[in-house]
Amino acid sequence: MNTVNHAQLEQATQSNGPGGSASYGRVKTPGVDTTHGAILYLESISVVFDGFKALNDLSLDIGVGELRCIIGPNGAGKTTMMDVITGKTKPTAGTAFFGQNIDLTKMQESEIADVGIGRKFQRPTVFENHTVFENLELAMKTNKHVKQTLFARLNSYQRDKIADTLELLRLMSEYKRPAGLLSHGQKQWLEIGMLLMQEPLLLLLDEPVAGMTDAETERTGELLNDLRGKHSLMVVEHDMDFVNQISQGGKVTVLCEGSVLAEGTMQQVQSDQRVIEVYLGR
Ligand SMILES: Nc1ncnc2c1ncn2[C@@H]1O[C@H](COP(=O)(O)OP(=O)(O)OP(=O)(O)O)[C@@H](O)[C@H]1O
Ligand SMILES: [Mg+2]
Repeated sequence: MNTVNHAQLEQATQSNGPGGSASYGRVKTPGVDTTHGAILYLESISVVFDGFKALNDLSLDIGVGELRCIIGPNGAGKTTMMDVITGKTKPTAGTAFFGQNIDLTKMQESEIADVGIGRKFQRPTVFENHTVFENLELAMKTNKHVKQTLFARLNSYQRDKIADTLELLRLMSEYKRPAGLLSHGQKQWLEIGMLLMQEPLLLLLDEPVAGMTDAETERTGELLNDLRGKHSLMVVEHDMDFVNQISQGGKVTVLCEGSVLAEGTMQQVQSDQRVIEVYLGR
């Protein structure tokens, strides 16, 4: 039950450390140029590990506000593609642009995070000994776009933002609990919330419902559907019911052997003979 409202949350956090009202403002970042409608452009990307092509001439675009599902067999290169986007792996060939103007292949991982690409790994990495609220607060205060120190008190805009996020995550009634006591699913939602505090333009989620109960999986689908349009999302998953729930008639991309095998609505890719052979029919 969600029994806590914004005012109560405000009271509960009034004594939030020393310092006067924190200054809050966005630092102007060099803008991402999305005038052509896409937030991400991967073109002819190859990644070679010891002679093995993990990605092989991969090309793919993600639209602004799109929720793109990526499916495909184990070893298809899905995680490697996310490694390229986030700068963890440099491609052997090809280009990766954020908008039209930001060349991701020339940037460090931390710079890529700063321009607005957030990534959720499979295992939740919340601060177990801190409360749910504090986890979101800490994530907000490490947002490079927010000018303030870790010890400054939250202002009302920031408290509202955390309250809105708690509502979105359906964790409002848990806000005082140490994150370590949450269920696996709740921890995953909290980590998504922590990424949201960084205000990412593009969010990459690698197998977000792995290890979740059916109820948690469905709830995660609702959460991602709520984010559709507000952020651009790339979601890798093997759970086809879940992909069906979140694709909502949008594009699903099938990766196989390091390149795009098929792209289309869930219905289209599910009836594609090549996709059935390499993946769905197994
Ligand atoms: N650092 C690395 N060094 C060598 N080979 C690697 C490395 N990272 C990935 N690979 C190989 O690249 C291929 C693609 O791996 P990747 O993890 O991207 O697949 P995936 O589509 O995410 O699979 P899964 O669905 O199992 O998560 C695999 O054959 C993997 O063994
Ligand atoms: Mg993977």
